[in-house]
Amino acid sequence: MESSIFEQYESNVRSYCRHFPAVFEYAKGATMTDEDGRTYIDFFCGAGALNYGHNNDYIKEKLLAYLQEDRILHAMDMYSPAKREFIRFMEEKVLQPKGMNYKIQFVAPTGTNSVEAALKLARKVKGRTNVFALMGAFHGMTLGSLALTSDVSDRAGAGVPLHDVTHIPAPYMFPELDTVEYMERLITDDHSGVAKPAAIIFEPIQSDGGIYPLPAEWIRRVRDLCDRHDILMICDDIQAGNNRSGQFFSFERAGVIPDMVTLSKSIGGYGMPCSILLLKPELDIWKPGEHNGTFRGNQLAFVCAKAGLEFMLENDVAGQVRAKESIVHDFLASEIAPLDSRLQIRGLGLMWGIDFNGMNGAVTARDVGHACFERGLIAECCGRNGNVLKLMPPLIIEEDLLRKGLSILKDAMTAVLAGA
Ligand SMILES: Cc1ncc(COP(=O)(O)O)c(C=O)c1O
Repeated sequence: MESSIFEQYESNVRSYCRHFPAVFEYAKGATMTDEDGRTYIDFFCGAGALNYGHNNDYIKEKLLAYLQEDRILHAMDMYSPAKREFIRFMEEKVLQPKGMNYKIQFVAPTGTNSVEAALKLARKVKGRTNVFALMGAFHGMTLGSLALTSDVSDRAGAGVPLHDVTHIPAPYMFPELDTVEYMERLITDDHSGVAKPAAIIFEPIQSDGGIYPLPAEWIRRVRDLCDRHDILMICDDIQAGNNRSGQFFSFERAGVIPDMVTLSKSIGGYGMPCSILLLKPELDIWKPGEHNGTFRGNQLAFVCAKAGLEFMLENDVAGQVRAKESIVHDFLASEIAPLDSRLQIRGLGLMWGIDFNGMNGAVTARDVGHACFERGLIAECCGRNGNVLKLMPPLIIEEDLLRKGLSILKDAMTAVLAGA
């Protein structure tokens, strides 16, 4: 592997390349191939940006046709057919059938831009500065989003105080604590010392926090709390959205409609930079240009985003996820959990985590991640101490490849546990 150029000239901030030391050149479906010709099964999936697989043929055809015709690529937020077609498809084929009435704000290319826009708008609408976020949350690395993000090492990079956020224990953290009641207490007790928030923001499945699907009942109760106290509910579905949970939105299982939804990653269809904020129409009090950014108008991203949604509906990707979920669930329960009683396994749809924290360092998720990589499987770590192995294959992964990836995982775990 020739990586000296990166090591010499690319900033030390680079990270995933340290966990997966290869120079990747080709990718197709659920596999990535390095320049030495070695192929890996991808259970990382661009951190959730490649739900429809690498170089998806259906989307690629639309992308190539668009380029071939010299159609406009960069348009700021000017009108274009590509944007019109994406908006129409998203509204008429995805949102309206779910009874959802949202306007779409195009933010800038990446997920944290959507979170920043949601925060700014919530504070503007409610005229309050405080926001409630959950402990264990990850919402991005720019300063507003980072104030919501709870991991201490992520926060350490800020260089300034991160404030105007109250972190609430996530529902799984203290089983004896009713966290919704706790939030209500903070809001209503004039001795709580906590300012009433403009919004409560949460990931319906905490992702980088260690794969915790939040209970549907908890989500419903938060919706009710927000309604009773004039607080906005924001769901961050940047990683768990786009069918990863077996439904397009990961909050759908709770039957609620959030006031705002942040979407990015796989909304770009093809790994394209696309990030949007869905907002209830009555919240749209922005003045023209009050929140903007140069790369909100990436037309190729709109083309791929629309094609991704078409592909998703035509191929019943959500149904595919529900079918494959049982393969992963059953394998983890019957082949992985028995390997060590200290492991904890959590997940939903095609988003699963194996938590090694109970092993007190005897074996870590990173050890197993390395062993997987050596055997041709890419799986990243997340969660407390980076000690949860995250399994997140593209949703279109073929069943035999999914089973092969899982059996590599078992081999890797068996080997690491034997050496511990
Ligand atoms: C739930 C969630 N929100 C926000 C972000 C930030 O997205 P980005 O890295 O594209 O800025 C991420 C990224 O992993 C995420 O998982």
